Amino acid sequence: MISVLFVCLGNICRSPLAEAIFNKLLAENNLQYQITCDSAGTSDYHIGEKPDLRSIDIAAKNNLVIDHLGRQLTIDDFSHCDYIIAMDKSNEQNIRKLLDSRKHTHIYLMRKFDDQPGDGEVPDPYWSAEDGFVLVHDMLLRSCKNLLKTIIREHHLA
Ligand code: 4NP
Repeated sequence: MISVLFVCLGNICRSPLAEAIFNKLLAENNLQYQITCDSAGTSDYHIGEKPDLRSIDIAAKNNLVIDHLGRQLTIDDFSHCDYIIAMDKSNEQNIRKLLDSRKHTHIYLMRKFDDQPGDGEVPDPYWSAEDGFVLVHDMLLRSCKNLLKTIIREHHLA
């Protein structure tokens, strides 16, 4: 099983939405038995919590199933995740800090996969209005589609 982990700060806004979008793409491409995904936060702010209501709302509007409960990234995640996808540069730095001097070459910024990469980050929508979540959803969808294409290519799944 190829394993993808989406990581943000709180694990209640961006990364659970990315997980829901990616799961839908996996099902649509009948790849759910070959690729799995999960999400986590670098912080311990929202452990055990449901996603933010605004992420639940945008997920419902896009027919996505979002049923994740917040959890914090742990060192064990590195041993079994093939792709660790950080939402922004601060998340990426925090992931690398947790990793300390150990090597993990499979850490990427989500918007590396976006064909409209902007400044390269999925902005933190927590303090934004609802339209911030619409923008975040659209960037996540574009990025997830290209991430899936990359995984299919790298693992000869087509
Ligand atoms: P996320 O958004 O990292 O996309 O889940 C945030 C959620 C909560 C907080 C910050 C960002 N917070 O400061 O509690």
